Amino acid sequence: MSNKTFYITTPIYYPSDKLHIGHSYTTVAADAMARFKRLTGCDVWFLTGTDEHGQKIQRSSESAGKDPQHFVDDIVAWIKDLWSALDISYDDFIRTTEPRHKQAVQEIFNRLYRQGDIYRGRYEGWYCTPCESFWTARQVEEGNCPDCGRPVELVAEEGYFFRMSRYADRLLEHINNNPDFIQPPSRKNEMINNFLRPGLEDLCVSRTTFKWGIPVPFAREHVIYVWLDALSNYITALGYTRDETLFHKYWPADVHLIGKEIVRFHAIYWPIFLMALGVPLPKQVFGHGWLIMKEGKMSKSRGNVIDPMVLIERYGSDSIRYFLLREIPFGADGVFSNESMLQRINTDLANDLGNLLSRTLTMVERFFSGIIPAPAAGEEHSSDLELRELALSTPSRMAELMDKLQFSSALETLWALVRRSNKYIDENAPWLLAKKEEDRKRLGTVLYNLCESLRFISVFLLPYMPRAPMRIWSQLGIDTMPHLHQWNSLEKWGLLKPGIKAQRTADLFPRLDIDKELASLLEGKDSMEKEQKAFSAGGHNLVKEEKRAVKEPSSVNGNEKEQIFPEKTELVSLEEFTRLDIRVGEIISAEPVPQTEKLLKVVVNLGKEERQVVAGIALYYSPGELTGKKVLFVSNLKPVKIRGLLSEGMILAASSPEGKVVLTAVDGDVPAGSKIS
Ligand code: ME8
Repeated sequence: MSNKTFYITTPIYYPSDKLHIGHSYTTVAADAMARFKRLTGCDVWFLTGTDEHGQKIQRSSESAGKDPQHFVDDIVAWIKDLWSALDISYDDFIRTTEPRHKQAVQEIFNRLYRQGDIYRGRYEGWYCTPCESFWTARQVEEGNCPDCGRPVELVAEEGYFFRMSRYADRLLEHINNNPDFIQPPSRKNEMINNFLRPGLEDLCVSRTTFKWGIPVPFAREHVIYVWLDALSNYITALGYTRDETLFHKYWPADVHLIGKEIVRFHAIYWPIFLMALGVPLPKQVFGHGWLIMKEGKMSKSRGNVIDPMVLIERYGSDSIRYFLLREIPFGADGVFSNESMLQRINTDLANDLGNLLSRTLTMVERFFSGIIPAPAAGEEHSSDLELRELALSTPSRMAELMDKLQFSSALETLWALVRRSNKYIDENAPWLLAKKEEDRKRLGTVLYNLCESLRFISVFLLPYMPRAPMRIWSQLGIDTMPHLHQWNSLEKWGLLKPGIKAQRTADLFPRLDIDKELASLLEGKDSMEKEQKAFSAGGHNLVKEEKRAVKEPSSVNGNEKEQIFPEKTELVSLEEFTRLDIRVGEIISAEPVPQTEKLLKVVVNLGKEERQVVAGIALYYSPGELTGKKVLFVSNLKPVKIRGLLSEGMILAASSPEGKVVLTAVDGDVPAGSKIS
């Protein structure tokens, strides 16, 4: 039996300029949905692409001094790079300048004309070029477009018209009989009250005052209106009017995902064109909200657009995808800010998820030499039961939310399991269990349950953050066991086999220094604006070359090395060195210093005595994972008070060039207090 199909689309974007984070938002959401449906067994078709014709593109290409086809080719290449950097798993990318699309659109126009839905006339009215939309005098607001607020232009030209009024009643009936057709419900009411009830005017579906479009096949001085051209992509990409195999397999679309400003085109014009063609309507049009900036909508003229490429290069695609999907309930508008993005990366990814993995694997390493222990048979503690039940109930709850495109709530549900797992560590305090031989079985159960929970979490993460799961699997030692990566492996707790060798390697999401990051992003913004201007002027390759030329010599000069091996290190005599009393110390306990972000109060066993120190390592180590670690300790430093706490000595640590702090370790088993010389 073949799998259930699922067809999802994004809007096809105008390649009039680089895309910004708002466009990435829709595409990441569609990708997460496509990946989720694939994971849960559907046969998915995921379409995206570019809307390359029309007056807006023609004008942009003119200002860049390029012919329109070359102009869009460059930007489309950039867009494809962006989707690849964001791990977008589309099945097809349609460009409306491709012959497969142009021929099908001409055929559609012919059919509609032949059957009398399109007739010839003369258009006199208003036009908004940025939105590519016609407006009546009644609709324009003080000379401005009611959608985007920019000035409209008076247009008077010969044209072809589509008889919208013929289908208005049928559409209203369809909308009323299919409550899921337009989502969220507020958008449905807007369509009915603002557009359908006042009465639909016939729509002009051709233009003559510019050339950049698909010619009307029987009147070549006309080009087909760009929205009729663009909307058709959803079926032309499936081979409609040509080889219709894909069309029969995947149409009607399960969901057209779009921004709220283009719901009108998708929920009124598009279904009416389809009705006229005798093609079934898409099952759902979902109009999500906008990402806005503190100062209002993102726009080039305000200079507040966010370049997703910069963020991906700095923080990785997983972090950006997670933030976009988690921060704002899908459907509503939400404010984008660098601060909130960095906070989310630190709290949810570095602290909650990253620490869960590193704490668990550090303990597996320390207490079981890195071998995932077997859970003890028999008695089950209430915390075990709670953790297991939560994990087993998560798939159905996530699936229910995903079917409503509630990405943020689905991730919240997943994070409840991440947080429950961290709480499970604190409740069971494995470092205390490790102290007594009679608790060893219990210790094994606790660490096994944590590894199994991490496996569940890694599979849940797949649609949202496709890279992190691979890294978790490799640390858990299960990267070559695909049966443990599948959705149906979450039906049963305990499929992870004890005895596998796990290995803690790099941090999943290193903690970010928020102040430093904010400053760098601000600094980067100026150069980005410069680059954006050059790109808009059609010279983006040139800017890339310039950037490379500036960057490369500095690393050749060895700037990075200088930080690690400073040339001018002052020399000390052996005598001076031996004045330092460096010992092997074993960390007995660690806890955060209240109201600080970076400090931990650490108690260290030096063999004959215990010492308290205040160490600036909280961003890199959680208290739980420090207990039991052997470190190098300078024991004869003059005591100081830090935040009112006595600090008697210093734990030695290395700082990486990026500022990450790593404790020095002792290679081999020596008792606490041993002298370093
Ligand atoms: O409208 N917040 O293309 P477009 C959230 N070619 N989403 C945003 C956004 C923001 N600030 N800014 C843009 C077109 N988007 C037509 C579509 S479809 C047959 C033709 C997203 O390049 C959102 O999905 O102007 C919006 O609908 C789309 O980009 C508009 O992209």
